[in-house]
Amino acid sequence: MLQGKIIALGVTGGIAAYKAAEVASRLKKLGADVHCVMTKSATEFITPLTLRTITSNPVTIEMFQEPKIWNVEHIGLADAIDAYLVAPATANIIGKVANGIADDFLSTTIMATKAPVIFAPAMNVNMLENPFYTENIDKLTHHGYRFIEPAVGMLACGYAGKGKLEDPEKIVEQLCEMLCTEQDLVGKKVLVTAGPTMESIDPVRYITNHSSGKMGYQVAEQAARRGAEVVLVSGRTSLPVPYGVTRIDSGSALDMFEKVKKEFSSADIVIKSAAVADYRPKKAADKKIKKKEGDVQILLERNPDILAYLGEHKGQKVLVGFAAETHDLKENACNKVRNKNLDFIVANDILEEGSGFQGDTNKVTFYFADEREVKLPMLSKKEVAGKILDEVVLLSNQRPL
Ligand code: CTP
Repeated sequence: MLQGKIIALGVTGGIAAYKAAEVASRLKKLGADVHCVMTKSATEFITPLTLRTITSNPVTIEMFQEPKIWNVEHIGLADAIDAYLVAPATANIIGKVANGIADDFLSTTIMATKAPVIFAPAMNVNMLENPFYTENIDKLTHHGYRFIEPAVGMLACGYAGKGKLEDPEKIVEQLCEMLCTEQDLVGKKVLVTAGPTMESIDPVRYITNHSSGKMGYQVAEQAARRGAEVVLVSGRTSLPVPYGVTRIDSGSALDMFEKVKKEFSSADIVIKSAAVADYRPKKAADKKIKKKEGDVQILLERNPDILAYLGEHKGQKVLVGFAAETHDLKENACNKVRNKNLDFIVANDILEEGSGFQGDTNKVTFYFADEREVKLPMLSKKEVAGKILDEVVLLSNQRPL
């Protein structure tokens, strides 16, 4: 899979540095020519000899060490590689690259390369949540640097939480996937909505729906992997924020509407998978409603149709809607494409097996404004997300710049 590829493996100084040996070994087994670059602190955790033996290549640490292969070393390596993987990546190296600091061989070669750079961070959970770190991640993501999300677990510092270096097997898997994923959304801002809305009845109760948000989260994740800047306006779900995606939490349909409007003007592509309530209680009680004998009635009033509003103001943006139907799929979906001025709609019959809200699969048909239709077999939500984005890229390439 990586046959003939030259990969630079940057190793920085964290306890997870010992796992770099396994990453290097797996890359080598897949056919890559691996060149390790270590920071001085990394050599405190793992010896260069280990990495040199595994990769059969010299390991570079010092900027001015005796050249072995590369002519002007940092430029030679930076030019030659197909990808730069930094695993583990400390907050320090991420901070340096984000701020244009090149003060050792690793940071210099990262700055000098035009190849994709992928960081696999590992650090204490509090460092991971530090605002300087999250700002650096946003900045780097914006400029096309990519990340392999750290795992959750027991950390070497004694804390339990997010921050463990992802499993070496998964790092290599994700690297392979990234190298094969076309970067066809670079320079585009994609706005995705996902999950359910919540309409308050009183301070305790609300009306919602069965949306899990899984479809929209996959779209957001795949768009980020394809190089887009992604903003995800999300109703309540238990899903983690996909790496490289900015999530904005929303509650009611009105709240989602406000948040979407703020992001809409700067977006190039909008994919609206959220299950928005069409109605909300006309007046949410400010105190808990106590039970009494007999029935109660809750008067509902219409929510704005967010997608229809976006359709009216769409300009050159690519606008994609979703339709979850139980009957007359084509007719209902095509009406929505027309009425909401969409480029296309992703329609599914939620009563069909493998097509529901909570599952990991979906069987959808795309209905386009030009009356084309594309019927897909049952696929994973990740695969469906990929197909949606393929169509989005085609449409987006037809738009004037
Ligand atoms: N939608 C929206 N705002 C609403 C209702 C729906 O933005 N108030 C969007 C959804 O995010 C989805 C699309 O419209 O992309 C279709 O939603 P759906 O509920 O299936 O359709 P409706 O237009 O509400 O029609 P109906 O409920 O009558 O099927």
